[in-house]
Amino acid sequence: MTLRTLHRSSAIVIAVFALFHITNHLAGLVGVATHIAFMEAARVVYRNLVVEIVLLLCVAFQVGSGLTLVLRGWRQRRGFVPWLQALSGAYLSFFLLVHVSAVLSGRVLLNLDTNFYFAAAGFHVPPYPYFFVPYYFLAVVALFTHLGCAAYWQVQDRSRWVRVSVVAVPAGVSIVLALRIVLLMAGKLAPVDVPAKYRATYGVSMQ
Ligand code: HEM
Repeated sequence: MTLRTLHRSSAIVIAVFALFHITNHLAGLVGVATHIAFMEAARVVYRNLVVEIVLLLCVAFQVGSGLTLVLRGWRQRRGFVPWLQALSGAYLSFFLLVHVSAVLSGRVLLNLDTNFYFAAAGFHVPPYPYFFVPYYFLAVVALFTHLGCAAYWQVQDRSRWVRVSVVAVPAGVSIVLALRIVLLMAGKLAPVDVPAKYRATYGVSMQ
């Protein structure tokens, strides 16, 4: 089995979780209470000890194998889709490393419920929005684009229209979804009142 085949298999586990996870964030468009209720129900599945260990091992493997594939093919890579696949994958590696470390630290070290407010806090304490807006926006776009690029190699015998669409459609849809999630977190679609204990993680006094 090649590294590429293993990377693809582990991607399926992460993609299933991630699409469910994005649906969770979109549920926030109905209201923060809906986002939190959705997450609490979903946690019954992904916080199951076995499921979570498998998911986190897949994340660790995906980051390592992804960066290896990006670097290994650096000189031979030619064309728009191969570079889009490599760059979106490299960003996802960076994002997953930072995101999962932050979530686990919040949970284990800070003893926080890593819910909607944990993610939203960074959007409400200047200057952190300058980091978090592009950070989350690009994560959603990179995820869909990367999956679109993977699908591209499966439709090589189809028309040019199909080959372009499998990359362009998910990428285009993800821009709309990412924008909505970021605006929601930033409190631009409805007021978001981040509790003091979450703002405190960015050095804001609890008083
Ligand atoms: C739209 C932007 C995103 C936001 C606001 C966000 C927020 C969160 C939050 C709040 C948690 C904690 C969940 C919990 O405590 O139950 C979490 C966990 C996680 N997120 Fe995200 N996330 C985003 C995008 C992504 C993407 C695109 C991926 C994958 C490519 C991802 C992968 C993960 C993973 C693997 C975990 C850890 C799950 C666990 O074991 O508890 N996230 N995220």
